[in-house]
Amino acid sequence: MLTLGIETSCDETSVALLEDESRIIVNLIASQIEAHQIFGGVVPEIASRKHLELINPLLETARREGGIEWKDVDLIAVTAAPGLVGSLLVGVAAAKTLSYAHRIPCQPVNHLEGHIASIFLAQPDLQFPMLCLIVSGGHSELVLMKGFNQFERLGRTRDDAVGEAFDKVARALELPMPGGPNLEKLAASGDPYGFDFTVTHLADGFDFSYSGLKTAASQAWMKNRDRRADIAASFQRVAVSQLRGQVQKAIEQYAPATLGLCGGVAANSAVRGQMQEAATAAGIAFVAPSKVLCTDNAAMIAAAGYLRFRDLPAERQTFDPRMLHFETRSLLPVGEQVAGV
Ligand code: KG4
Ligand code: ZN
Repeated sequence: MLTLGIETSCDETSVALLEDESRIIVNLIASQIEAHQIFGGVVPEIASRKHLELINPLLETARREGGIEWKDVDLIAVTAAPGLVGSLLVGVAAAKTLSYAHRIPCQPVNHLEGHIASIFLAQPDLQFPMLCLIVSGGHSELVLMKGFNQFERLGRTRDDAVGEAFDKVARALELPMPGGPNLEKLAASGDPYGFDFTVTHLADGFDFSYSGLKTAASQAWMKNRDRRADIAASFQRVAVSQLRGQVQKAIEQYAPATLGLCGGVAANSAVRGQMQEAATAAGIAFVAPSKVLCTDNAAMIAAAGYLRFRDLPAERQTFDPRMLHFETRSLLPVGEQVAGV
């Protein structure tokens, strides 16, 4: 089964071809970073325009590199939410057009399920239950999965997502975009105990909070202009320790067989290292995708779409124009599907 994946939820335009649940044939990712760099953050209007420029050439390149015709595609999976609505609409319009023109079934995908599917791409035969930590620019979520397409959200951020905190502290430290990766690079040369930052301690449940830490790190820079690397390293240590604390608590309570890590911040070596250690200490398996599959990409969207579609009753697995009547949304909790309209 051949799935075409399309992802345009933020500032990466991406198109992929996936065979069955995990064989990636092509996974093209066009970053728009240069267009946003001078503004110090993603500008939604520019992102939409860039997606519009990039989507058709990218689709054509994927088709050519995959050596296929559109009629060979069995399913089109597209990110429909959550994300920047103007950006999402570009990918969704492309998906609906191809679907309608070639009579190919179309599956809208929850972007967070896409991130989780990147863990299955890394290890298709992993053991459930899986405790899954999603850490991206827009989300910090702890999810328990007892099987495919079964999502129970245990915790989420109460304010900033962890990636957002990395980006905002990087910006405060006057680092160029991409903030998270540049902050990680700088942290490598700093003292992680140079500053005694603390995080809001959320004793009950599994939520996260990053805005206090973000503010503390930004203010430290105002008073200590000669200690940029120490601020970066101390921020990173404390940010990661909150993730580790909540994950460890959830492992104790739910005894999962696997700890999965995904989302853009999963590309961070300190995050990967701490999660690997937490899993090893608990004697459970640890799965994190390669770094290119951690940040936004269409292969993970194709995989998530495939997993949803596979579970549909047979009569809903054929093309029907009504399957194109779905909306795009800026917000959508993990596990929830966009509604038909
Ligand atoms: O998953 P993603 O590509 O987009 C969203 O769905 O949000 O995640 C992007 C986020 C950004 O906040 C970026 O700074 C962060 O992931 N990120 C990192 C690293 N690489 C990407 N944060 C810390 N260290 C990294 N190496
Ligand atoms: Zn993402």
